[in-house]
Amino acid sequence: MIGIGGLGHIALQFLNAWGCRVTAFTSSEDKKKEALAMGAHDTLDTRSPGALKAVASRFDLILSTVNAQLDWNAYLTALRSKSRLHFLGVTLDPLNFNVFSLISGQYSVSGSPVGSPATITAMLDFAARHRIEPIVELFEFAQVNHAVSHLASGKARYRVVLAQPGLL
Ligand SMILES: NC(=O)c1ccc[n+]([C@@H]2O[C@H](COP(=O)([O-])OP(=O)(O)OC[C@H]3O[C@@H](n4cnc5c(N)ncnc54)[C@H](OP(=O)(O)O)[C@@H]3O)[C@@H](O)[C@H]2O)c1
Repeated sequence: MIGIGGLGHIALQFLNAWGCRVTAFTSSEDKKKEALAMGAHDTLDTRSPGALKAVASRFDLILSTVNAQLDWNAYLTALRSKSRLHFLGVTLDPLNFNVFSLISGQYSVSGSPVGSPATITAMLDFAARHRIEPIVELFEFAQVNHAVSHLASGKARYRVVLAQPGLL
């Protein structure tokens, strides 16, 4: 699981509840401890060049929720043969892996959008059963500029929500 933000912190909880062994890749030292509390079993530093070498051929699935270009060839080497790199996060630039890596590892690369209404209903039932909840920070509408700069600073934990004063 790469990127522990709005999507990523929920994904950690779902994967744990599904019984997966989950590794959280994060660029934030602070988030490592938080990721472990949310269901990750291990953490890795997305900014450390050596981190992926230590987990070569380890994962059955890598989910990316980052909105940045990373070294995807390096992430492919962390997959077991015939496994999958799946994108939820949107990188604006084209992906930068080479086809030879895909062929030699027999990897799949895929992406998916938000689910259908039926899938979302099943997802909410699952979330209720396993007590999966988003962690949010509430701001009044009048604080919108502060809320946006808080988000931009990377300090948001984990969703910033604007609310009517009466709801805070
Ligand atoms: N597929 C879909 O249906 C769908 C639905 C909603 C959103 N999205 C997309 O999913 C992406 C994530 O959305 P979000 O709301 O979760 O965003 P977010 O809260 O900003 O989280 C993105 C995370 O990516 C990591 N990241 C950001 N820049 C990075 C960099 N340069 N290097 C390494 N890691 C970096 C950070 O995690 P760490 O701090 O842990 O490193 C950050 O918390 C966006 O691109 C969004 O458009 C897709």
